[in-house]
Amino acid sequence: MDGSARENIGTLIVLGATGDLTSRLLLPGLGRLLTEQPERRFTLVGADLPAEDGEAWTRTVRAAFDTAGAAGPAVDHVLARTAYRVTDATSAEDLQQLLDAADGIPALYFALPPAVTARAVEALHRVTLPEGTVLALEKPFGGDRDSAAALNRRITALVPEDQVFRVDHFLGKSTVLNMLGLRFTNHVFEPLWNREHIESVEIVYDERLGLEGRAGYYDRAGALVDMIQSHLLQVMALVTMEAPVSMDAADLRAVKAEALRAVRPWAGDPVAAGRRARYTAGSVDGRHLPSYADEEGVDPDRGTETLAEVTLESRTWRWAGVPFVLRSGKALSGARREVVVTFRGVPPVPTGLAGTIGPTVLRLCLGPDRMVLEINVNGPGDPFVLDRVPLTARLAGGRLDPYGEVLHGILERDPTLSVRAEGAEHAWRVIDEIRAAWRSGRVPLEEYAAGSAGPASWRDGPG
Ligand code: BG6
Repeated sequence: MDGSARENIGTLIVLGATGDLTSRLLLPGLGRLLTEQPERRFTLVGADLPAEDGEAWTRTVRAAFDTAGAAGPAVDHVLARTAYRVTDATSAEDLQQLLDAADGIPALYFALPPAVTARAVEALHRVTLPEGTVLALEKPFGGDRDSAAALNRRITALVPEDQVFRVDHFLGKSTVLNMLGLRFTNHVFEPLWNREHIESVEIVYDERLGLEGRAGYYDRAGALVDMIQSHLLQVMALVTMEAPVSMDAADLRAVKAEALRAVRPWAGDPVAAGRRARYTAGSVDGRHLPSYADEEGVDPDRGTETLAEVTLESRTWRWAGVPFVLRSGKALSGARREVVVTFRGVPPVPTGLAGTIGPTVLRLCLGPDRMVLEINVNGPGDPFVLDRVPLTARLAGGRLDPYGEVLHGILERDPTLSVRAEGAEHAWRVIDEIRAAWRSGRVPLEEYAAGSAGPASWRDGPG
């Protein structure tokens, strides 16, 4: 990351302060960051429609910090000064007042539903923004490629691109970022990192969690948008991108956006490239889950998928012909969360070597975070009869949790981990094609029992 001196954010204004995202993710992440960085100083302002008083807000912040075990001088500093302002985020007048009262450079964090965010951005066009103002936007950024492009145009008419933070907490995961160090500092991987030597790549994020009361958002998003559009495609970009000149925001974001530009549905066929399914009643870890269609707030006729899988390709000289399978689902039996790079088999295995011989596989596992390289070595007894062994390394956790890492970037005004404008649009373009195929009814919505490994017909691998 770029180490040049930049004035830090003086006031972090959270729009949507009384929402679930703020208390569940944002504030705990902030608490951990403040614990880790006791010297950090800024003012936290919560802004939202409900007529809450300052004390209630301070209690919310304190409770969220407590859940994160946050403590220390920076935590005390924030708690002593934090304020709540009753605000209509879509009113230019209210936004102007918030910004006028800010100390130092303000960051506006939009912890709001996308439709409200879009209206707030419009209102900002009638506001005088202080020099350097940062705009931080939660996913999903827009609702399809066109709306993301329109939002990009409106936002970048307000502030320059490097003051726009399209937030993706996945890129704050240290094991996701580990892809960079692993690829670009170990000679053993990068020369093989291409279509000549790699057979396939899987990027899987299966969860045991069900809907968890998030129907209002999730039933309109579904697994494809919730996880693949915003997170897994970003991970794919880290796997497929060319080496950046440096880890500076400009260099890293440029190669990532270029990598996303090359992504297409497998064989250019969005119907065959995707599968979708929805969970029915079942139990996960002894917890009974109702059928997704019966969950409170769900409209079953929307046909929202809770498990999505897409096979994509990167149309580049480096990757053409290598399938990238991206999958994520809820209420599954196992929390398999990993990037799996399968290398091609050797041509041929010399006669006389026997045993369990398979291709070399590299796994980057997210939670518990580790790297596993599966190779063939001699088993016990006959040295020509081989066994597969995993070479496993535990990967260190980050100094901050993913949200803390993202907030650190915002407070330092360093956009390295934020998604660049075209990157967000390219990611939508791929998803729009898949969604159009799904909406046309040509891809059936399959079913799986909550707590199972997914539809039985999927168990033999990608379709
Ligand atoms: C969020 C999705 O962005 O990421 C959730 O909205 C998902 O549906 C979550 O559960 C997964 O990320 P993590 O880091 O919480 O495992």
